[in-house]
Amino acid sequence: MTQPGRGTPIGFEQDIRPMFRTKDRESMLKAFDLFDHADVVKHADAIVGALRSGQMPCDDPWPAAQVDLLQRWIDAGKPA
Ligand code: HEM
Repeated sequence: MTQPGRGTPIGFEQDIRPMFRTKDRESMLKAFDLFDHADVVKHADAIVGALRSGQMPCDDPWPAAQVDLLQRWIDAGKPA
């Protein structure tokens, strides 16, 4: 996966949402919508925690680079 370099702005639609699979979204819809910017903003800390610990998604844990990209997006103020 191509990742924006340091200093490049990270956007939800462009960079974050594509990291979630349809299966992830459907599995988690009862709790939040991973394809929805506002929902991911609201639950961002819990989501990144679950990903970082490897608890979620339980069938295919994210590589550290993907978790780091999500964290950089959070640190940048979670822009759309
Ligand atoms: C606050 C963060 C999260 C919590 C507390 C959480 C919790 C859970 C729970 C309790 C289940 C089981 C549901 C059931 O058995 O019906 C589940 C399933 C699942 N979750 Fe999450 N989840 C979180 C974030 C995520 C994220 C960020 C992803 C993907 C990027 C994800 C992907 C999945 C998938 C794919 C399943 C179905 C089981 C499987 O992995 O095959 N979840 N989640």
